[in-house]
Amino acid sequence: MLTITNLNKFYGTTQVLRDINLQVAKGEVVAVIGPSGSGKSTLLRCINLLEKPQSGTLALGDRVVDVAKLTAKQENELRQQTGMVFQHYNLFKNKTALENITEGLIIGKKMPKQEANALGLSLLEKVGLREKADSYPAMLSGGQQQRVAIARSLAVKPKVILLDEPTSALDPELVQEVLQVIRSIIDHETTILLVTHEMSFARDIADRIIFMADGVIVEDASPAVIFTQPKHERTRRFLQTVNPEH
Ligand SMILES: Nc1ncnc2c1ncn2[C@@H]1O[C@H](COP(=O)(O)OP(=O)(O)O)[C@@H](O)[C@H]1O
Ligand SMILES: [Mg+2]
Repeated sequence: MLTITNLNKFYGTTQVLRDINLQVAKGEVVAVIGPSGSGKSTLLRCINLLEKPQSGTLALGDRVVDVAKLTAKQENELRQQTGMVFQHYNLFKNKTALENITEGLIIGKKMPKQEANALGLSLLEKVGLREKADSYPAMLSGGQQQRVAIARSLAVKPKVILLDEPTSALDPELVQEVLQVIRSIIDHETTILLVTHEMSFARDIADRIIFMADGVIVEDASPAVIFTQPKHERTRRFLQTVNPEH
């Protein structure tokens, strides 16, 4: 469903993604773990072309694009089919929760306002924030803002949802409500890539875990294998640092 082949990304002369190959099936939930600076965010940002890789191919469904020869049309199509959720929510501060969700539908998808509002409200309902439709981000807790951001990412009915450390900026007591919402959006239709440091959550919800280090995918296996019998020493060392009793 999502196929990445030989993907390379440089910042200047520094290579941060090295020949990444990855296949994710439709509806699969993949957690991406690894130390800071290993390229996890860059990988997600390359998938929806927020960052341009220098070489490689990206395929979503039956569309294959050579990233070195991207057309504006291909770029738009890929973006429309991916939803992104960032660590710092990135909501528009001068728009209400509902407007944050409907903006992309009305402007980007040219959806009639009434229809967009109805969809927006149903998505707010889904993340448990129907009553906050008219609230501005500043009036919402971090957890609520992130739930709005998740609702926004769902609005365009993307094929892939990319979540980049969605709970890392939250106060500890707000983490669970967001994890709960993430759990609730798993529908085995939408492909989900989740970068996270919440190891027990990853272990619980992911079909597969990818461990990245230094711009490469070191290990790609089921949670059971990664967490109990990782093949690589580098994976073992990382898991010990995040989970010392391991
Ligand atoms: N915009 C940028 N310009 C230059 N270097 C960057 C940029 N973004 C990330 N990097 C570098 O790329 C590497 C991977 O970063 P990142 O993908 O953010 O890692 P992670 O999300 O795993 O912490 C790091 O060495 C980081 O410093
Ligand atoms: Mg990151």
